[in-house]
This record gives sequence, C-alpha cells and structure tokens, in this order.
Amino acid sequence: MTIIDRSAVDVVRVDLGSRSYEIKIGGGLVARAGELVAPVLKQKRTAIVTDSHVARWYLDELQQSLRSAGIASEAITLPPGESAKSFSQLESLCDQLLDLKVERSTTLIALGGGVIGDLTGFAASILLRGIDFIQVPTTLLAQVDSSVGGKTGINSAQGKNLIGSFHQPRLVLADIEVLDTLPRRELLAGYAEVVKYGLINDPAFFTWCEGHGAGIISGDAGARRHAIAASCRAKAAIVGADERESGARALLNLGHTFGHALEAECGYSDDLLHGEAVAIGMVMAYDLSARLGLCPLEDAARVQRHLASLGLPTSPTWIDGRSWSSARLVEHMSQDKKVKDGRIGFVLTRGIGQAFTPAYVELADVAAMLDEAIAA
Ligand code: NAD
Ligand code: GLY
Repeated sequence: MTIIDRSAVDVVRVDLGSRSYEIKIGGGLVARAGELVAPVLKQKRTAIVTDSHVARWYLDELQQSLRSAGIASEAITLPPGESAKSFSQLESLCDQLLDLKVERSTTLIALGGGVIGDLTGFAASILLRGIDFIQVPTTLLAQVDSSVGGKTGINSAQGKNLIGSFHQPRLVLADIEVLDTLPRRELLAGYAEVVKYGLINDPAFFTWCEGHGAGIISGDAGARRHAIAASCRAKAAIVGADERESGARALLNLGHTFGHALEAECGYSDDLLHGEAVAIGMVMAYDLSARLGLCPLEDAARVQRHLASLGLPTSPTWIDGRSWSSARLVEHMSQDKKVKDGRIGFVLTRGIGQAFTPAYVELADVAAMLDEAIAA
C-alpha cells in the first residue's frame, strides 16, 4: 500500500458533442463527491443506487459528502451479484425510484461495480423517457471499462446484456481508494480489462503493464491511478470515434467472443468472473491469430505469460469440474449479439497492440484452437 496524494486528480474527457463528460480519477473522490457532482446536477436532488457490499463501505461517506454540498440524496440498496441485471430487479428499481417521486431533473448516482452501473444506467435511460446519471465505479473493472462509454443493460434468459441502451453518464468519479476493499479476485478480473487496452493498440502500455501489474494488484496507488487513467483515455478515444459500435469500438471486444462463450457455459456463475473469462479469451484470440500465421508465436506466449504470472486464468481447464466441448462453445458464440449476417464477430491481432476485426474466420480453425486449449 502506498500513501495517496489526494490532490492529484487525472481528468479524461469523453468527447461526444452534447453528451460529452469528464472522468475524474484520484484518491478520496467519494469524500469529495458533493462538490464534484454539483456542477452537473439540474437540481440539488439525487437518488443513489448501490449494492449491499458497497453500501457497507461507502454509502454513508457519499451521502455525507452530498449533504455537505447541500445536495439531497435517497438510497436504494440492491443485493450484490449479476442477478441484479434482470427484468425483475429493473422493474423493482424503477418502482422504487418512481415511489421516491424522482423528477426529470433528478440525477441517479450508480455507486458500485459494473452490475450496478449497467442496471442504473439502463433505468436512467428509460425512467421518465430518460434522466441523467453519474457513475461512481467501485471495482477496477468498472473504473477502466463499464462506467465509461454509455453501454447499459440487463441480461435475459437468452444471454448477457441482450437488453439495453446507449445512455452516457454526465460524470464518472473513479476513486482509487475504494479499490482497497475490493477482493483480490475481483481486482485481478478488472486488471484483465486494463491489459486489454495495451493489447488492442498500445504496445508500450502492455510493456508498462508487464512491469507494474503486480504493483497494481498489491496496492501501488500511483500505478493504479496511471493504469486507470491510461485505460480511460484509450476507451474515451475509441468511444469518441465510434459511440454506437459501427466500427472501431468492436476492438474493445478483444477476447470477449471467446470469453462470453465460456461465461455462458458456466451459467454466468461465480465459477468464472467476466474479467477472468476475458483473460482466457484474450489468450485464445492471440493463439488463434498465431495459428493463422497472423501474429508471432512469441507475442501470444508473452500475453499468456503476463496474465498467468499474476494468477489470472489463461485456459478453460483452470475452471474446476467442467468438461468442455469446442462445439458447444462455438454454439454459444453463434448466439452472441455481435453476430452479423450469421457471421461471428472475432477480434484478432497481428501482434501486441495490433488488434483488428477480420472479415471472415473459418470456424474449423476456431474449433481446432479450442480443442487444443481444452486439452491443455
Ligand atoms: P460487480 O458489479 O458484480 O462487483 C463485483 C463484486 O464486488 C460485487 O460483489 C460487489 O458488491 C463487490 N464490490 C464492488 N465494489 C467493491 C469495493 N470497492 N469493495 C468491496 N467490494 C466491492 O462486478 P464488476 O466486475 O464490477 O462488473 C461486472 C459487470 O459489468 C457485468 O455484468 C458485465 O457485463 C458488466 N460490464 C459492462 C460493460 C459496459 O461497457 N457497460 C463493460 C464490461 C463489463
Ligand atoms: N466493454 C465494451 C464496450 O464498452 O464497448
């Protein structure tokens, strides 16, 4: 653990015309939330949505800070976990918010990880035909990925994130101090999404991750702030260029087509966290690229080595007690929402930091790579 300089705040801007907003990254931002959110509020009234784990640590501090700035807040606390991203929880949340008599100018504050952010953002996009919301992400994954870019939504029986909207937040406050209470497994899962930005288009950042990944996990505040700011800058640039994923934004799905298939096979259970699935999926994307002669074998090995060195999974065999079938994994991929004209959307790579979306991938090659990964 290092001493945190609370005066150091990085600001990353997401440029989207009238929907532009800032991401502020630093220590002690929950304690300062009142003064930081005040400029973007339409009325001095907010409703906080959080989960019971996060509420225990940070809800009082947030409400106290809002109160000090003369901002009223009411809080809704949901059970933790992916199951909150459901129609029934969305309905219950909307009912509770309407019972609180939220108005069009009331702002919702999502205090939590990606689950709370995705659900609250979706509720904000449909309540009273759309109200403002602010993200206060409390997991590493949410600070580097899910709180930025405006993808919101819930899951359905058919799959993850299949029901949702694009609704940008008005502000994101990423307080690096809250990561101190995050379980190590969740930190590691979020770190996979940090590495992703290096692998997409920034080889120097990947090299930096190789040197600082262990520090990020063990609590080096400077390394955490740098990693989050660099990740947010990378995501902001891509989202600014392609908000609705008609082109470059698809690169953010590096490792996700494979990862989502693994998550689906695990029933979206705690057997495999989203970031863990992305770690395995990124290794698969590099392995497939190497197998197709697109990417040096050494680059694929380097990715696997770095993720494994921190304790992230790099193969489906890491997950206990499951028998895997490449055919079933390909079947899950064909139900992914990124399927276009019947073709599965893959992100492949020509090397570290050189991801691209190929026009076509032979499914026999995917199955052969999966068979090898399953047997390993
Ligand atoms: P999560 O929200 O479930 O949080 C993980 C666990 O950590 C929960 O138990 C939570 O209560 C706890 N927690 C959160 N902050 C804490 C803290 N500071 N201290 C202690 N405990 C804390 O999981 P997640 O990994 O943050 O998010 C996963 C979700 O994000 C998935 O639903 C995924 O689909 C979504 N996602 C969305 C996007 C997007 O662009 N919208 C991108 C990536 C992932
Ligand atoms: N997490 C992928 C995206 O935001 O597009």
